[in-house]
Amino acid sequence: MSEPRSDVLVLFGATGDLAHKKIFPALYSMVARGSLTEPIVGIAYDDWTVDKLVERAHDGIEAAVGKVDEKVFRKLAGLLRYVSGDYRNQSTFDKLKEALQGFQHPLYYLAVPPSMFEPVVQGLEQSGGAHGARLMVEKPFGRDLQSARWLNRVLHLVFEEKAIFRIDHYLGKEAIQNILYFRFANSFLEPIWNRNYVESVQITMAEDFGVEGRGKFYDEVGAIRDVIQNHLLNVLLLLAMEPPISQESDDLIDEKVQVLKAVRTLTTDDVVRGQFDGYLKEPGVKPGSTVETFAAVRFFVDTWRWQDVPFFIRAGKNLPVRATEVVVQLRRPPLAVFDQFKRNQGNYVRFRISPEVAISIGARRKAPGDEMVGEQVELTAMDDATGDMEPYERLIGDAMNGNSQLFTRQDASEIAWRIVGPVLDEQQPPAPYKKGTWGPAEAMKDFAPPNGWIDPEA
Ligand code: BG6
Repeated sequence: MSEPRSDVLVLFGATGDLAHKKIFPALYSMVARGSLTEPIVGIAYDDWTVDKLVERAHDGIEAAVGKVDEKVFRKLAGLLRYVSGDYRNQSTFDKLKEALQGFQHPLYYLAVPPSMFEPVVQGLEQSGGAHGARLMVEKPFGRDLQSARWLNRVLHLVFEEKAIFRIDHYLGKEAIQNILYFRFANSFLEPIWNRNYVESVQITMAEDFGVEGRGKFYDEVGAIRDVIQNHLLNVLLLLAMEPPISQESDDLIDEKVQVLKAVRTLTTDDVVRGQFDGYLKEPGVKPGSTVETFAAVRFFVDTWRWQDVPFFIRAGKNLPVRATEVVVQLRRPPLAVFDQFKRNQGNYVRFRISPEVAISIGARRKAPGDEMVGEQVELTAMDDATGDMEPYERLIGDAMNGNSQLFTRQDASEIAWRIVGPVLDEQQPPAPYKKGTWGPAEAMKDFAPPNGWIDPEA
């Protein structure tokens, strides 16, 4: 039997930053595409009217898309309702229940801090609002294994696992989906996609901006919790997983979990941490904070396919460019019959994830002339990104349809914390680096894939 679509979307944290920047623009695109016609009930502590929420939504959408199509916006505004109240008062949930009269399958989207998950879920349960409903929760999902387990227990007291959708917006990106598609829709890759041919894998997520007013939030997390434990580890899973038997959610997620189980738990030798100069002066950052704004991490996946192949991930704020990419470097031919070439040349597959979306294959060819010397070339398939769905649009649509393929399952959320556990909350100060550089140069001197770090271009 197919899953019923949610018949109303309830947005907790409707007046917050995430709703403003990401969620309302996504809802607007959904309305424009005709994929959202259900009512949207915003809920938050602020004593606002629905008109104020509509105004705020307009502002967020304008900032995201530039020119707003007012006809589309009027449709969206027509779907919006607003309920205000404190999540710690049961009366808020009774009011919400009233507003949801007649709906059978609400999707509750918790765009609120994790500390609010428990009161909200319990309030929903006590008002009788959880029955037949789905729950979508934002990252961060816990801050270590213990808190993630506790959160899972709290949610499971009220919702079954199949009704819970843990967001990692990276999984909703077109380019990330393309990794999965490209790997398993092309037969030429499979014979080389293993330790016999792959020398190393590196994933870089570089951001050329700092913490942008999110100092208080960032200082509670740091680079490993913010993007490595979730977004980038998920990219590693797509690169390393075995072919799923189908594209059913559980079949895909089972394969990812198999990889996670085989990822070695990190030790401090697997990590270089950095902090950009000036971080301690950012508003909201604690004096003497030892939180890292840059981390480079080496993972190993102990499977038949990947034994001893290093998977390097590095991510940081205030690096030279804004770009995310993966390079899967293949081993060199056994003999240099013609010429020698640099270690980061030869054959590789590059997945460019942002800002553009592209897949490239690195190869050697003969350079024109008398001699048998080569040059490096790249065969590239570019996606011009026109009409690409933004991750939040895709993920909200999937959750409304009960499709959990792009969400994090309980076991995956917990194993990912097991892997990074020993390197969280390091008390030693991270190595300083200058803004606009590739992290702490001295500390990174001997910490690199065998072919060296490949700095993505802007
Ligand atoms: C968020 C992190 O989850 O992802 C941010 O909290 C980061 O620190 C962002 O900047 C990057 O996402 P995107 O989609 O802009 O690459």
